[in-house]
Amino acid sequence: MKKVVLALVLLFTFVLSIIAQPNVYVPAKENMEAREQFQDNKFGIFLHWGLYCMLATGEWTMNDNNLNYKEYAKLAGGFYPSKFDADKWVSQIKASGAKYICITSRHHEGFSMFNTQYSDYNIVKATPFKRDILKELADACARQGIKLHLYYSHLDWYRNDYPWGRTGRGTGRSNPKGDWKSYYQFMNNQLTELLTNYGPIGCIWFDGWWDHDIDPNFDWQLPGQYALIHRLQPACLIENNHHQTPYPGEDIQEFERDLPGENTAGLSGQKISKLPLETCETMNGMWGYKIADMNYKPTKTLIQYLVKAAGRNANLLLNIGPQPNGELPDMAVQRLQEIGEWTKQYGETIYGTRGGLIPPQDWGVTTQKNNKLFVHILNLKSQSLYLPLGKNKVAHAFIFKNHKPVKYKKDKSGIQLQLDEVPTDIDYVIELTIV
Ligand code: GLC
Repeated sequence: MKKVVLALVLLFTFVLSIIAQPNVYVPAKENMEAREQFQDNKFGIFLHWGLYCMLATGEWTMNDNNLNYKEYAKLAGGFYPSKFDADKWVSQIKASGAKYICITSRHHEGFSMFNTQYSDYNIVKATPFKRDILKELADACARQGIKLHLYYSHLDWYRNDYPWGRTGRGTGRSNPKGDWKSYYQFMNNQLTELLTNYGPIGCIWFDGWWDHDIDPNFDWQLPGQYALIHRLQPACLIENNHHQTPYPGEDIQEFERDLPGENTAGLSGQKISKLPLETCETMNGMWGYKIADMNYKPTKTLIQYLVKAAGRNANLLLNIGPQPNGELPDMAVQRLQEIGEWTKQYGETIYGTRGGLIPPQDWGVTTQKNNKLFVHILNLKSQSLYLPLGKNKVAHAFIFKNHKPVKYKKDKSGIQLQLDEVPTDIDYVIELTIV
């Protein structure tokens, strides 16, 4: 009898510990659907826009040059992006085939690019422009049918209540300890505004966690913040650019300047989770506007990056730094148009697909939708290509762009494609019907 009671008590405590676990995150139905849609969308445009655009040396300039926060704040008084036209941005971005826009609502510099009642250091109250560019962008996105995601910096180089991390130490603030309670409340108040006043938000894109990675005891209190977001908008996905394997409550795993599985920038290498994946990369070398950086990647490189991401089951979030006058740089607009010409023709081979059954190879990648397998040949110096298909059988094989059949020979574990030419296209796509 005693044993039975003991067993029951143990079972009860076990069940209780599971129920009471604060870290168990069960995504809502809307959230799960949003994840699928996010993955179907494949391609987004990132916009880094803040006061830093006026200094035109990138968004880290305040930290890199130890600019005093009170002096820096005076930039706001001269910020008048006279050519800003949200509808124009959205149509230029949509022309590329991008399905979502992620904009910096507040970057590390601490300036809010939206009308917030929790700090006067914002675009409406502190600039002569006085317009809520975020509201205008949100409305234009809604009108033109494209999703809006919001970048939100966890760290802040301007506020005195932000406990200092390893960056922004030279900006002249006097209170290294900060006041965490006040800062946490401030962030949650702003997040509440962002998720209440700007319509449906596709994602909150956090960045800056790593500012405190030197202190293992620092607690960002993420579960509470994440719960707030999911409560306000259950379909809003949470991403955190912490360069770690995702924490409970997160819905997207991010890779900065690297494709999942690669680590050329030194920020990746973490385990790839089962969550939707996204890689962010910038068109030139900086995220924020940098006047001296005309080194835009060729359109071919950008398209191939999008395809390589898709083949790794990841989205691409491709960045542009808008100018101080409110326009997107000409070179970026040109890239958007050229990418758009490609997505118009080849969109079907990436949108709505997932990484294909053949993992990424030196010659390219595969994407897949139901029984359609798209073989993206990006780099092949020969006319023949072996595809390890395992037990899968092929019913048809044809060139995607002109529907011409492709010859192939079968063997036990795959097929040998015999092409009529050595592929030279940006992406030479072969469509296979798998049975
Ligand atoms: C980094 C940088 C930041 C940029 C971001 C984009 O974490 O701190 O400036 O916004 O990457 O991925």
